[in-house]
Amino acid sequence: MVVKNKEFIRDLKPGQYFTGPLMVKSLRRLLTKKGAPYLSVEFVDRTGVLSAKAWDEVEAYLTVLAPGEAALVGGPIDAYQGAKQLTVRSASRLDQNSLDLSDFIPTARQSAEELLASLNGVIQGIVDPDYHRLVISVINHPQCQAFGTLPGGKTFHHAYLRGLLEHSVSVAKLALLIGQHYQPYLNQDLLVTGAILHDVGKTWEFTAAPSSEYTTPGRLLGHLQMGAAFIGEVAKTLDNFPADKLLLVQHLLVSHHGEAEYGAIQTPKLLEALALHQIDDLDGKLNGVGVFIREELEAQEPEARTGWTSYHRLLKSYYLHTPGSPLWGEEVSPPVPASEPNPGLAPSPASGLNLKGLEPGFRPPDINETRPPKPNNPPNPRPSNEKFLLEEKRYHQKLF
Ligand SMILES: [Fe+2]
Ligand SMILES: [Fe+2]
Repeated sequence: MVVKNKEFIRDLKPGQYFTGPLMVKSLRRLLTKKGAPYLSVEFVDRTGVLSAKAWDEVEAYLTVLAPGEAALVGGPIDAYQGAKQLTVRSASRLDQNSLDLSDFIPTARQSAEELLASLNGVIQGIVDPDYHRLVISVINHPQCQAFGTLPGGKTFHHAYLRGLLEHSVSVAKLALLIGQHYQPYLNQDLLVTGAILHDVGKTWEFTAAPSSEYTTPGRLLGHLQMGAAFIGEVAKTLDNFPADKLLLVQHLLVSHHGEAEYGAIQTPKLLEALALHQIDDLDGKLNGVGVFIREELEAQEPEARTGWTSYHRLLKSYYLHTPGSPLWGEEVSPPVPASEPNPGLAPSPASGLNLKGLEPGFRPPDINETRPPKPNNPPNPRPSNEKFLLEEKRYHQKLF
């Protein structure tokens, strides 16, 4: 029988007594100032993180609670420093095979089918037959099966089930836009190919959920090197795959972190590599900060909410949730159909702007029509008196 969550962390309220299954994210045995042992635990389900303390039965709970495993937990919910906190009063084992993992591990909002359909759409847009067959062969490779389920990162961005696929699809869609914008100076097919495959090495960098730890090859080689090597192996299996095209894609993979400080094996040396690095950075940061804001606000009591997060140690900043915007990943009603005019975009006299280019019937001026006729004797633009020359000289002396 599958154990299902009935109540999620997001919906818990201070003052209530909770009993239900929670997954242990982290667990520490600590000592109070008086030397008594206690447990500091972070529990998770797919809706968030709940910090917890166990002051009694510490040794007994240590035999039940383990990181990456779920347990049946009970205790009162209190508010502590503006966040919800559980005091553990009971904990018992659960059969780990009876769990629906997606109840406990944050999961991408879009289903695997939706993401794969988007990925397929981007792949179909690759015109170059070599890049096209390389992408298809890599993504469909039996060793890439985990690509569709793994998280995209360990802590900062896309750190949830299917996050790697979601991030790859997002980067690929952005690559399509950027490639189109900079036509013909960027090779769009190369950029999109690199975008889809840039993190394929993460398939072997992390173990499967729920633990999602770094593997030994992941620590020793990293996903940039493993991805580049893997696509090299796949290209060998394709008939006469051009070595120069493979080299370009491999360069995009090994340089997409931008700088050695961030794990890049090479700095970007192609325009497409520069573009991919920026797109990857943008997508990772927006997702990482967006999820951070959502989790912080959801953990705050409604009356204590200011819209501000706590300090983000990696990005060294506080963040404010934009008033009126949905939280990252929140379900929203469908956007206004494109056929309906958006009054906010029309130039209005009240805006104080005179955007002639937006008026109906606007035609750019013909350069020959509007250029003033050349005067026969152009006036001297500067007065040539001695006082002026003296002041100009003094001015230059001040500067240099
Ligand atoms: Fe990466
Ligand atoms: Fe990435």
